[in-house]
Amino acid sequence: MQAKITLLPGDGIGPEVVAEAVKVLNAIGEKFGHTFEYTEMLAGGIAIDETGNPMPDETISACKAADAVLLGAVGGPKWSDPSAKVRPEQGLLKIRKELGLFANIRPVKIHSALADASTLKREVIENVDMVIVRELTGGLYFGEPQGRQDNAQGRAALDTMYYTEAEIGRLMRVSFDVARQRRKKVTSVDKANVLASSRLWREVAHEVAAEYPDVEYEDVLVDACSMYFVRRPSDFDVVASGNMFGDILSDEASMLTGSMGMLPSASLAEGKFGLYEPIHGSAPDIAGQGIANPLATILSVAMMLRTSLGLNAEADAIEKAVESVLDAGNRTPDIAESGVEAISTSAMGDAVVEALG
Ligand code: IPM
Ligand code: MG
Repeated sequence: MQAKITLLPGDGIGPEVVAEAVKVLNAIGEKFGHTFEYTEMLAGGIAIDETGNPMPDETISACKAADAVLLGAVGGPKWSDPSAKVRPEQGLLKIRKELGLFANIRPVKIHSALADASTLKREVIENVDMVIVRELTGGLYFGEPQGRQDNAQGRAALDTMYYTEAEIGRLMRVSFDVARQRRKKVTSVDKANVLASSRLWREVAHEVAAEYPDVEYEDVLVDACSMYFVRRPSDFDVVASGNMFGDILSDEASMLTGSMGMLPSASLAEGKFGLYEPIHGSAPDIAGQGIANPLATILSVAMMLRTSLGLNAEADAIEKAVESVLDAGNRTPDIAESGVEAISTSAMGDAVVEALG
């Protein structure tokens, strides 16, 4: 196969981890006879510095022309002044909307070699294996009206939580389809005891659930869900939620593993197109030191191969290689137990390439 991949290395450790993922992709190409053609484009803070725009039009066109997009990370203290006119995060929201990336898939799985990295007890998190499916182009992030509403009483501001049945329906279908490939259970998260948009969410979710009688279904209120995540996280299989609730819950879920540097994600459009990225941020404090963990980006590439390119054996090979590299004791500093000598970003990438054989 020949596939076009647009790379958005972005800021901080983004370029370092993307470089390792490309190394692994090239190794897969050689081993399985595929050609991956890369186009590298500006996104995030570096794009602000060079063009004044965190997501230039040329970047968006290059993404649209590709089979899939791999993003490192965007943002950093240099661009984080809340009063700044342009911020890297705006670029992220723009590309999600422009590319129609409505479903954000975040698998949260414990690698048994790393179970002691969590702040929670081993017996609580040992069997955690869930996927958060977060709605990504609607809800509170995009609802109108939005903005300052200063009035005679003083300063005020407004955001709008707005969902249509079409937006809810397609997100729920993705969630049920993911569940069918797994343990066949969907938990839908809402705040239906208070919010009108959540009552519509629940109504539509039930209608979609009826189309999937083979999949177990439950509703959970978002506040209770955040509690269950730390009390009995291994009960969850697929967790479906709106944009804001999913943002909060996915950070909470990522911490169950204790190793942010391990978690991949996919943001999917209708069809097979997707943008793949590690869930960790740009980590400016360690950028440029060659010590960042590239495994989340490498695992994001596995998701890309499986979901956007239909290359299942290749994706499995990467996941197996990562598992074996960890079992062999390879650790970047973020996942190193005390007393263990850590290896560099590029040594970790090399170890995965070597494990691919
Ligand atoms: C995420 C991030 C983004 C979000 C920020 C950086 C805009 O937190 O991808 O979860 O809120 O969606
Ligand atoms: Mg977030």
